[in-house]
Order: sequence, then C-alpha cells, then structure tokens
Amino acid sequence: MRLSEFEIHAETGVLVPPGSQQGKPAFGYSDGVDEETRVLNAVTAAPDVRDNTSALLAYVTDWPSYYHLAPGRSNAIRALGLPRDIRVLELGAGCGALARHLGENHTEVHSVEGSARRAATCRARCRDLSNVAVFQADFSEIECGPDYDVVVLNGVLEYAPSFFKSGDRSNPVGALLALAKSALRPGGIVLIAIENKLGLKYWCGAPEDHTATVYEGIHGYPATTKVTTFSRREVQEVVRAAGFPDVSVFHCFPDYKFASTVLSDALPPSTYLHNWLDFPAECPGLSREYAVHEGLAAKSVYDAGLLGDFANSFVVVAGTEGAATKFETVFRPAWIARRLSVRGRDASHHRVTTLAPRQGRLEVTKAAVDYGRGGELAAPVVEPWTPGDLLLIEMSRAMLGANPDEAVHALLAEFHQDLLSRFATETRDAGGYPLLRGRCIDFLLRNIIRGPEGLVAIDLEWEAPAPVAVDFMLFRSLWNDAIAPNHAWASRRIADFDLYIVRAIQRFYPAYGFSRHAQNKAQEESFLARVGLDPTAPRRGEAAFVMAGKAWGRTLTRRIRDKAGLS
Ligand SMILES: C[S@@+](CC[C@H](N)C(=O)[O-])C[C@H]1O[C@@H](n2cnc3c(N)ncnc32)[C@H](O)[C@@H]1O
Repeated sequence: MRLSEFEIHAETGVLVPPGSQQGKPAFGYSDGVDEETRVLNAVTAAPDVRDNTSALLAYVTDWPSYYHLAPGRSNAIRALGLPRDIRVLELGAGCGALARHLGENHTEVHSVEGSARRAATCRARCRDLSNVAVFQADFSEIECGPDYDVVVLNGVLEYAPSFFKSGDRSNPVGALLALAKSALRPGGIVLIAIENKLGLKYWCGAPEDHTATVYEGIHGYPATTKVTTFSRREVQEVVRAAGFPDVSVFHCFPDYKFASTVLSDALPPSTYLHNWLDFPAECPGLSREYAVHEGLAAKSVYDAGLLGDFANSFVVVAGTEGAATKFETVFRPAWIARRLSVRGRDASHHRVTTLAPRQGRLEVTKAAVDYGRGGELAAPVVEPWTPGDLLLIEMSRAMLGANPDEAVHALLAEFHQDLLSRFATETRDAGGYPLLRGRCIDFLLRNIIRGPEGLVAIDLEWEAPAPVAVDFMLFRSLWNDAIAPNHAWASRRIADFDLYIVRAIQRFYPAYGFSRHAQNKAQEESFLARVGLDPTAPRRGEAAFVMAGKAWGRTLTRRIRDKAGLS
C-alpha cells in the first residue's frame, strides 16, 4: 500500500487505504477503549491543542491521559534542534503528541498510526496544521519511496516483535528499520526514542516500562518475547546491522517520554553531569522499589565514565550515507547537556538550560522554550559554568551516612549561615525570625554548587514578592532536599517527618513548634501553586506532601501490561 493512494475519511480527516472508508477493524494496541475515548474527546473539545499547552491538563484523569496530553512529550526531540525545513515520516504516531510538535516546527509531516481511534485523535490534535497528514495503516503493510529526510520511531521500535509483521520475521526490529531506511532521501536519518534495558533507574528498582516487572530488562526479558529494548552498545549494533553507517546517541533522563535532561554523545569527564539529573525517577502509573540510591549511583557511574551506558532512555540517530554532513547539529552537537523545564509551569516559564563549550570554557545558557510562535522569547541568559557537586549530593550522603543527624545538621548550619549572609534584611518578623530578601526563595541545596571558592547559587529563578523568614527556608530545604529525594532511606529511620523537621529547626530556633511548621507547610503549598506547579502531575518522591493532587493507583500497572497482551 502506498501512502499516496490513501483517501480521506470524511468524518475524521484521517487518510485511509482506498475502499476502507470506515477504517480497518481495531488495531491491537490500546490503552483501553474508555481511556482512549476520553483522550479523543479531550483533544476534540480542548480550546488549545498546541505542543506543551497546559490547557489539555484539565482533561487528565489517569496515566494514559497524562501520557497523551501533558506538556513535555516533545522534550527529547526538541533538544536535538533539527532543521526546520525537513519532510518527516512518523511511524506509530499514537494520539499525536509528537506529530503536533513536528508539525509546528517542520515543513511537512506524515504520521502513520495503526489504531483508528488513535489516528483520529492524532488528526484532532493537529487539526489546524495543514502540513500534517495522518494515515491510518498497519505500517507493516505500507511501501515507502525515498521521500523523507527524517523517520521518527518514538516508543515504537520496541514493539516490533509484536506489531511488525512483514520482511524478515526472525528479525522484526531489523525489518522495521529496513522499512524506515527505504523511506529516506539520501543523507536522511531515523530517530529512535527507546528505553535502555540497563537504565540506572531499573537497577534502582523502577519496573521495566512495558511489562511493569522489576528487573525484566536487566534480566534480558525472561518473561516476555513481545517487546524488546537494548543496551547502549546493542542498540548501536542493531542500527549498524540495518545499514546505517553513522550513529549518534542522546541520553534521556528520567526517560524519553517526558525527558527533563538530555545529554549528548560527548559525556566529557570532570563535568559533573550527574548534577543535571533529578532523582529518584518517578514511574507514573507503576509502583517502584528503591533498591539503590539513584542520585548517589548516578554520580558513581558518571565518575566511572559509564553514565551513557546507564542512561534510562536513548534517542538514537541512525544516519544513512552523508547524514553526518546534512544533520550536523545531531551528529556534532555544539552542546553537552540540556535541561528542559516544562512540567508544572505555565508556558511563559518553560525554559531550556544548555551546557556548552565556548572559546575554551563551559557556559550555561538559559532560554525560553521556542514554540515556533514567535515574539515570546526573552533574551537568553548566559552564565559561566561552575565545577563541583550540588549540595544536594552532599545532603544525600549525609542522610545515608553513619551519623545522619549530625551530618545533616552540619550541612544545614552551613546553609543557614550562608542564607543569612547573602540575603539578610536586618529585620525580623513578629515571631522573631530573621527576614531574608525574596530572592532567597530558590536558594535550596539542589541549586547550590560547592565550587572551588565557596558556595555558588546556580538557579535562582523565582523571587518571593515579600521578605521570607529564615525558618521557612530551613523547612524548604529539609523537605525538598533532605527528605523528598531520599525518602526511601529517610523513612527507614524517621517515623515522623514533621517531628523530624521541627526538631532539626529547633536546633537553630528553639521556639519553632508545630503551629509555625503548619504555617510553613501551607506557605510551601501556596508557593508551588503560585509558580504554576501542576497539581495533577505525578510527584517525584512519595514523601512530597500531597497537594490537591491525584493518586496514581497501582491498578494502572495492570493496564500497561494488558496493552501489548503482556500479562
Ligand atoms: C508506545 S506508542 C507511541 C505512540 C507515539 N509515538 C507517542 O510517542 O505518543 C506505540 C504506537 O505505535 C503504534 N504501532 C505499533 N506498531 C504499529 C504498526 N505495525 N502499524 C501502525 N502503528 C503501529 C501503536 O498503535 C501505538 O500507537
């Protein structure tokens, strides 16, 4: 079946094979009829369906709807900085989260999806983009001429054993890559976004994403033959064996689906790249174990030169002959690390932070995310890079160390002293607590590096509108830096986190009690609400106190397993 022969389905606007105006019977891949119908209805009804819109969050009720609708799905591909003027073929488009991004940013996009409901949702998501065509077809059955610069397989290659039914049946992954290659113009590339079966989070207790089974990928998939992911070396071998001479690998954390950090292939030593990772990785829709401390392990594997092999996901760029010249930005990226801050922020606060070498030194650039909407970009801010570990790492070491209470207190005392000297207003509130300038609000251990010449604040993004009492900052740090990222370890020795924090702050301010503590908790909630934190988003760290949030039930685990008939 050639895509050029497809005909438009009057009701949905999806292109279907000639003579099948009603669409083919349901394709086997599904999150569930009710779940997918809700997503289709949401996309149809939403007033704004643009990439990274927060308007669709109003329709999120569960993990499938979060996955299809929430901002951040395009982060991993966005980080690559692909040229605008390209023709893209997307195989396995799902409900169109990526098709929307590709359509907003590139010349022409053809998205193929097997499921009629998903194809209709993809069309509805791209309803105002005339440069996006959505085809409903089992892509095992299509023929492609060399018409495209880029083929995208976003979360699709791993399903080839179940859903790719043509070519060499003993090698469905190779057969799918052969189809992708046949669609490329000379110098074209395939982008493969896929989990790393040896990803750090899986060693630390996150379940394998497709089977919801802990260690299934690390163990080499003993319990299923229906999906497959690869290690870093394996995926490069698979791609080379499929006839792509040039391969470049980008590393995604916590995964490629909602990547918040992308590291390029370079991974230079002594650059503290572990500082760019959040931990522990959240696993929305799944329950996880906490076997190994992800933050401390990330530092160890980075220091050992192994972070690339332990990335949780990859975007693999498979290049045909000449691709390295045509796609210089992906084969020789000018940057080392990118952080994409989209989650829990309104669009005006979406940021891309980039670490890149310039004239022999490293620089960090912070810029607004470019939606291709024009006119919204603030001038990027460029800062020198500071070597050193985040104090967050020191706090994790303190929490897990031999004498945690004293080690945490010592670090907090240094932090307290630095707060007072940097942000003092020389005034006190009615309770007698020193007041600090509002600029201190983001001065948390996760935003402080112990540099060669002392503590350096790296990301003071927000400013409180009024002075802030120092005990609130001690509370913020204990909650956000000591407990939330270390909660699995903290909960083994701390029975009551509130009591723990009250006692820790009493060592600085003996009058600090539970009513002051309750005020601080309420103030933290209202701060997070004010900076636009998305109350429906799944939270990292089970210790995070529940805002007006949703519980992400264990029942969803089952649904994910059912999707590919994996149970
Ligand atoms: C994990 S989802 C990813 C969807 C989309 N790329 C995204 O990132 O949202 C995999 C998608 O590939 C589609 N798919 C898998 N095999 C296919 C095939 N042989 N033909 C058409 N679609 C297929 C499934 O229906 C599903 O929507």
